[in-house]
Amino acid sequence: MKVSVSVLSAYDRLIYAIKKVNESSADFLHLDVMDGMFVANKKFPIEVVKDVISISKKPLDVHLMVDSLKTVKEYALLKPEYLTFHVEILEDYEIIDYVKSLGVKVGLAINPETKIDKLIPYLDDIDLVLFMSVEPGLGGQPFKEEVVEKVKTLKKIAPKDLIISIDGGVNDKTVSLCRYAGCDMVVSGSFITNNDNYDERIRLLK
Ligand code: DX5
Ligand code: ZN
Repeated sequence: MKVSVSVLSAYDRLIYAIKKVNESSADFLHLDVMDGMFVANKKFPIEVVKDVISISKKPLDVHLMVDSLKTVKEYALLKPEYLTFHVEILEDYEIIDYVKSLGVKVGLAINPETKIDKLIPYLDDIDLVLFMSVEPGLGGQPFKEEVVEKVKTLKKIAPKDLIISIDGGVNDKTVSLCRYAGCDMVVSGSFITNNDNYDERIRLLK
């Protein structure tokens, strides 16, 4: 299982958290960008992401909880490994093609109550699907088990090379549900960062 570490719950000690992730066996560093509109919270303005890029030794997995496609384009220019934005704001293929033209891998995130039908037209054109297993906006919420059924359904029809990731409430217990459903990657935040030994926690998820 690939593990992407969300440092949202460690926002007040970001440099410390990024260094801990650098030293660990994490596969990716997950950044939760919030614009105060798609979700109420505001986090990771572009200047902060630039600073993170200068410190991080891990490839970046940027999760945009933003309303505007213009914002998606701005963050794409920072060239993270994965740029994931929400299917709920998608209008057509244009933004997907734009991000890919920069050599950045594209992910589509889907909220717990959104039907997977919305994703189906795009499955051949993207690199990753990010299932939200909590309402987006906050770290530390409990895992919504009903999302596992959606993962299983998508897994049956997804192209073989599509990465299936899941985000929210992932810990040493809920990770088994994710594994069983067919996830290739988990995003985990507070389970890892509310503890001094990040690597020990990451290994429990792998
Ligand atoms: C929620 C974020 C998640 C979250 C993960 O909006 O997308 O990445 O911070 O944190 P935990 O693992 O604490 O739920
Ligand atoms: Zn996230």
